Amino acid sequence: MTEKNKIPQNDGKDFIILSMDASHICAVTAIEKVCFSTPWSRKSLEEQLLNPLSHFLVAVDEEVKGYIGVQEIAGEGYITNIAVLPGYRRKGIAQALLSKAMTAARERECSFITLEVRVSNTAAIALYTKNGFNIVGERRDFYTKPVENAYIMTRYF
Ligand code: COA
Repeated sequence: MTEKNKIPQNDGKDFIILSMDASHICAVTAIEKVCFSTPWSRKSLEEQLLNPLSHFLVAVDEEVKGYIGVQEIAGEGYITNIAVLPGYRRKGIAQALLSKAMTAARERECSFITLEVRVSNTAAIALYTKNGFNIVGERRDFYTKPVENAYIMTRYF
């Protein structure tokens, strides 16, 4: 890990938040497969490294335990992915990732940040609600495997 990519983590947690780089792709691909029924491919994740609109962060101790992806277009932030390895949940990793991503999006002058979430995903909905996101809409049959509606949740800055 280079000093350039290191984002200080000042809350006493035993992991650090870094910008995703090529060395993290294998681990993030594996976490996608564990956490989602339609995971992003390794190629899609690699493409994010070349996309100036994409900002992916990883939570790392000795290896990657979680990550978040944000794409920003014309002052609008969109959370594309957030996941934490099952054995490392409820330790504040997603909260740390989301906090860093929101701060960074604000600093890049986004006026809001938004996302879709399965209506049954109570853990993620609680995370977003805790961070000031509100349900602003619902997309019918947005997800597959299984088919399910999505809530659109948005946090205005
Ligand atoms: N039940 C209820 N609330 C939960 C929760 C659960 N199982 N997990 C997280 N939360 C909420 C709580 O408000 C929590 O704050 P608290 O600990 O003060 O109660 C807050 O989220 C932060 O929790 P944190 O420990 O940082 O979350 P995490 O590291 O366990 O990660 C997810 C949360 C959602 C990212 C994780 O469960 C995950 O990877 N799920 C699978 C992938 C996924 O569904 N991603 C979201 C796609 S939209």
